Amino acid sequence: MNNELTMNEQSPPTLNYGEPVMLIDKRRRETYTVLQEGKVMNLNGNVIKHDEIIGLASGSRVESAKGNPFKVFKATLQQHILNMHRYATIIYPKDIATILMQGDIGPNMRVVEGGLGSGGLALSILRAIGDQGELFTYEIKSEAIACSRRNIKTYLGEVKNHHVHQADIYEGIEEKGVDRVVLDVPEPWHVVEHAARSLTDGGLLVAYIPTVIQVHEMVKALHAHPEMYTTWSLEILERPWYVTEQSIRPDHRMTGHTGFLVFSRRSARWAVEEGASHESKS
Ligand SMILES: C[S@@+](CC[C@H](N)C(=O)[O-])C[C@H]1O[C@@H](n2cnc3c(N)ncnc32)[C@H](O)[C@@H]1O
Repeated sequence: MNNELTMNEQSPPTLNYGEPVMLIDKRRRETYTVLQEGKVMNLNGNVIKHDEIIGLASGSRVESAKGNPFKVFKATLQQHILNMHRYATIIYPKDIATILMQGDIGPNMRVVEGGLGSGGLALSILRAIGDQGELFTYEIKSEAIACSRRNIKTYLGEVKNHHVHQADIYEGIEEKGVDRVVLDVPEPWHVVEHAARSLTDGGLLVAYIPTVIQVHEMVKALHAHPEMYTTWSLEILERPWYVTEQSIRPDHRMTGHTGFLVFSRRSARWAVEEGASHESKS
């Protein structure tokens, strides 16, 4: 018999103070909490001490003072983002997933972000680019910076590659030769020229935009720019399903509307070769 451990048999991470976890009861009800020294929780009459969870492996069974069993898991990034303290509305995970994939954000990239808010998008970008990438964020409010720093530290620990400017991104972007610019600010069209100056040739601009009037304004600004060439807009609808032995149907509730996404690719060489025409754009 092979004594080497397979991926599934490797030890899960142990749980420590400061870590976000999910407690799940026998009825599959989930509760998010961040483990704190001395904290005692009461879940529907079930008393659970955080100190008794410390050092357990993620996935362990814990018992409340009444003897009822719970499972405790390290929270996923999505669970952390949906439950963490908010300074401003977060971008929902369904939209973040699309920003990361269609915006093609990956390891080692240099990314500029406009609008830090609660840090939901920043957390996801930091995880995608890894510790060799760099994230430069512009945020005007000190309260947002403080809130998001706490949220980022809780999930990722101390990060050295997140550089925050307390500054108005409408005034400009310092960094040059960046791979991606991602915006969640009220009037992203003020950033189109700065992004074009900051992005490498072939770099992508992504904007998360709540209303269709803002989408129109943004797309007009992108079409008017000679170097922002391919532009596309979309909305992601996520419909959960209710699935049991007896019944399979769409859930009664879904998140109705979150926002729209606009993507655009900088093509400086094309602008030089073909002139500033936008007639052939999609
Ligand atoms: C909706 S929140 C961003 C939420 C964030 N994407 C998240 O997932 O948690 C928008 C943020 O943009 C900031 N903001 C607004 N205008 C700005 C500007 N011109 N430059 C930089 N930040 C700005 C606001 O203070 C606010 O914190």
